[in-house]
Amino acid sequence: MSFDTVEHNRRRQNFEGVSSVWLFGYGSLIYKVDFPYLEKRPATITGWERRFWQGSHDHRGTPESPGRVVTLIESPRASCMGMAYRVPPDVFEHLDVREKNGYLRFATPMTFADGTVEEGLVYIATTDNAAFLGPAPAADIALQIARSAGPSGPNRDYLLNLAAALRALGDQDPHVFEIEKHLG
Ligand code: SIN
Repeated sequence: MSFDTVEHNRRRQNFEGVSSVWLFGYGSLIYKVDFPYLEKRPATITGWERRFWQGSHDHRGTPESPGRVVTLIESPRASCMGMAYRVPPDVFEHLDVREKNGYLRFATPMTFADGTVEEGLVYIATTDNAAFLGPAPAADIALQIARSAGPSGPNRDYLLNLAAALRALGDQDPHVFEIEKHLG
């Protein structure tokens, strides 16, 4: 999978005749909402866990010195909390560009706090994408984050904003909070 997923994503879902789509956000989409939405609700998806395993060449790092951002890794017993937005489908024209560094749109069920379930979409950077970095010790991930910056700003802000947003949601994410602790 190439570095730029815009064209891949345009071919993935057909929004013809669709007036709104649920989008599940678990990373920057929780705290950086630069798109219009009709409704937003905390939600959880199951079978996935959030990991700082994706390289960022275009937002929080550069191609020569990538930062680290989150993706979702399949894990049958895990669940991941985030924010769901009901968006008009044309929002994906903007989001496909924002998420172009390796993320593809996948269909997923998402569960809201009241137990209701909706089908929607989530951007996931799969392990075969060209910017994928994979696992590393929390201290090493924190060091890479501390040293990285890109057009969207310091990588450290991505981590700190995400950790704060997860706390506001009442989420316990040991992976994110451990890296935050190492950042100092
Ligand atoms: C997301 O937030 O749902 C995708 C990953 C990111 O943009 O940080």
